[in-house]
Amino acid sequence: MDVKEVIWERRTVRRFKQKEVPEQTILRIIEAGLQAPSACNQPLTKFIVISDLALKEKICKEAGFVSIQKIPSPVFVVCDNCFNSRNYANFQSASAAIENMLLYAHSIGIGSWWINSFGDGKKIAELLKIPANFSIVSCVGFGFPFEKPLKPSKPVLNDSVYNNFFLSSSSSKNPDDWQFEEIAKFSEKAVFAKSPEIGYKPLFLYEFKNELHFFETLLGAKNLFVYDIDGNIPFAIASANRQKDFFCVVYSEGLKRWFEKRRHSLGLKNVKILSGDLGAFGQPGFDSIFLPNTLNRLPKERVLEILLQLKKALGKNGKICLSNLNSLSMIGVIFRNGFGRRFGPEIPRSRAQVIEIFKKAGYDIVGEKGFSLFPSFDSFEYVRVPKGFSTIWRVLKKLHFLNFFEKFESKGFPSRFCQKNVFIAKLKKIV
Ligand SMILES: Cc1cc2nc3c(=O)[nH]c(=O)nc-3n(C[C@H](O)[C@H](O)[C@H](O)COP(=O)(O)O)c2cc1C
Repeated sequence: MDVKEVIWERRTVRRFKQKEVPEQTILRIIEAGLQAPSACNQPLTKFIVISDLALKEKICKEAGFVSIQKIPSPVFVVCDNCFNSRNYANFQSASAAIENMLLYAHSIGIGSWWINSFGDGKKIAELLKIPANFSIVSCVGFGFPFEKPLKPSKPVLNDSVYNNFFLSSSSSKNPDDWQFEEIAKFSEKAVFAKSPEIGYKPLFLYEFKNELHFFETLLGAKNLFVYDIDGNIPFAIASANRQKDFFCVVYSEGLKRWFEKRRHSLGLKNVKILSGDLGAFGQPGFDSIFLPNTLNRLPKERVLEILLQLKKALGKNGKICLSNLNSLSMIGVIFRNGFGRRFGPEIPRSRAQVIEIFKKAGYDIVGEKGFSLFPSFDSFEYVRVPKGFSTIWRVLKKLHFLNFFEKFESKGFPSRFCQKNVFIAKLKKIV
């Protein structure tokens, strides 16, 4: 195989045959990693080959890294934190080694899976006896491929290269700077990077559960979810309410196929998936329409359009429920500064913005509630804490056992400081 072929044809393999890769082969792959460039040519990267089945099980159970059980030969890649950490040179060196390993493995018929979501890193460090001055960069899974994955779409030169200066609206976290089509394309790619088989762990566990239960209290016989990113909320609700009908409008045809696959894998017969613009939407008479985080993820103007179009879809006495990541909450303040973005542009919005947009579109807000003063502590591994917040972060972490902040709910004034706010609106009565 020539280099170009290896680079172009390598794929992330997530399903392996139940057969360990011979130790000698793994060592040859790691040797390929060691040939990579490395900052100051220092040996900053180390590799921990996991061959002990009992240890694998411990990592699975105690660190919550479930997929490790599917990997015949996992290798943890760690890097030294004491040297060459400027501009993440230690992580860059380790990543160069990983890519070399992936390419070499592919050239000799071994599948590889680069994994960043390896559960509780601290627990893994403890189990693998990794010293404090080393960080886990990733886990790389190796095995004989049980699948030949299709090539996912890759960025094209046009969208990726700039001449001298970086000019792009897509660097903005604010959806108001994006076109709907750009957001759709971005979300599609982000969602495709996961597969329906991969277990999903919501970022904010309590908030997710609270939102889910709240939506459930508003269900009618016929329900519509508008532009949910990955189907987690609608599918969870539809699974628990199989006697009710659900419709999901998704951003694009590609996402529709992905949703269909996921729906099928969950055996849901009560969910219909539609794609594209709401304008062409011919399913009126909904009892409840849900807009999960829509204003956080779409331009304001677009949300206004959607709310206007939804007037035709809403049944008599129907209600719309919008959930909003609140800019006045603690996590909202952190997110406002650009931390924690997952699916493309996403910013917290203020209560005033939500109220204004409903008013403009001709709706009355008839109910409102707030959940969680602070994110679930399970999600801390995902959030980079900005400077100045670290002390308060540590104090809150100590109070973890109380779960008070996460479980907090309010319909009154304190709800204005909650992380997630839900608003129920009905069409304005004409007097
Ligand atoms: C830094 C990094 C972290 C990744 N983490 C995960 C992961 O946690 N889970 C996963 O399924 N894939 C993970 N991947 C694999 C990517 O999802 C995959 O490379 C991407 O979808 C493109 O597919 P391809 O590798 O076949 O080109 C990771 C890749 C990189 C580079």
